[in-house]
Amino acid sequence: MRILVTGGAGFIGANFIIYWLKNHPDDEIVNFDKLTYAGNLENLATVDKNPKYRFIQGDICAVNEVTSAMQGVDTVVHFAAESHVDRSILEAAPFVMTNVVGTQVLLDAALKAKVKRFHHVSTDEVFGALSLKTKSKFNEATPYDPRSPYSASKAGSDHLVRAYYHTFGLPITITNCSNNYGPYQFPEKLIPLAITNILEGKKVPIYGDGKYVRDWLYVDDHCEAIERVLQNGKVGETYCVGGVTEDINNLDIIKLILKIMNKDESSIEYVTDRPGHDRRYAVDWSKINRELGWKPKNDFNTWLTQTVHWYQENENWWKRVKSGAYKTYYEKQYKNAV
Ligand code: NAD
Ligand code: TYD
Repeated sequence: MRILVTGGAGFIGANFIIYWLKNHPDDEIVNFDKLTYAGNLENLATVDKNPKYRFIQGDICAVNEVTSAMQGVDTVVHFAAESHVDRSILEAAPFVMTNVVGTQVLLDAALKAKVKRFHHVSTDEVFGALSLKTKSKFNEATPYDPRSPYSASKAGSDHLVRAYYHTFGLPITITNCSNNYGPYQFPEKLIPLAITNILEGKKVPIYGDGKYVRDWLYVDDHCEAIERVLQNGKVGETYCVGGVTEDINNLDIIKLILKIMNKDESSIEYVTDRPGHDRRYAVDWSKINRELGWKPKNDFNTWLTQTVHWYQENENWWKRVKSGAYKTYYEKQYKNAV
């Protein structure tokens, strides 16, 4: 089988490629990635000599580049996206371009190439925000209610993917997953930002009151969920994927990280809140559990401890990332922080 992975040089895409080549050594992977600030080929250092792996630098918005990459492809796993909410608040245009237009270009090319499966990786953020006062969770039937330019652009892409199934019969599946964490995550997202800032002796910026809740999914558990959907998922279906069973807020996560790292709480710094900050996300992942037998392999504490250790042991990786283009963005976003 030949799989076209879009966005394979990013956090989840790279983990997926490593996971897939390890578990399916006979399959071929073509990694198609534009290498934006978030794309880092160093994430794939362990597989780049593998003869079953090939990298193509290209933009999912470019019809010619996508058409040529799609040749001989059986399955598309579509990760490529602008993925950071805060960046979408600073500038929405690249989000609409890549997440909406890019997805449509890919769908057209996949249809022409008659691929056997187009799997679209999406987010729980398309469902909007839940209240802290309820225990309710998002599921596959929750109406869409995106509230940031990022989640609105991902919602647009989900609608397009479903439209190509209903209108043209493209064999699609979708996963709407929660916040991922693990190795190779760009340190602009909460968990790697916190761990690496602590390692550098810097403050950890907490937006607003810190009582915002996300569902947290370890990246390898996510890769396994996508594998199950590709192998046994039903065409046309959506599966919600999440990682925790109880609410845990941002502040408690940072305190947990500080405890794992044997540090006190003096590095916590409250900073200006994100505009339109979604209060709470929670995911009901009972459908994929029931129908495909998937569940997270470990609990949050175990995976978080393992993640902290990975960043402690891979200082070279994140120091190179942090000294690059990331720096300019960081200064703009946290101009009042230490
Ligand atoms: P990421 O930002 O780490 O990586 C995105 C990758 O896409 C990068 O390698 C980048 O170079 C590439 N890319 C961006 N624009 C492109 C374009 N026009 N053409 C080709 N490549 C392009 O993102 P991630 O965290 O790995 O997320 C992957 C997918 O999972 C995204 O679709 C995201 O919306 C979704 N998702 C992520 C999370 C999360 O917590 N990280 C949660 C839910 C859903
Ligand atoms: P983030 O990792 O950006 O993911 P998302 O916005 O897609 O959920 O943020 C996770 C949570 O952490 C979110 O509630 C915003 C908060 N946050 C902070 O408090 N400080 C930070 O520096 C960052 C990046 C996020």
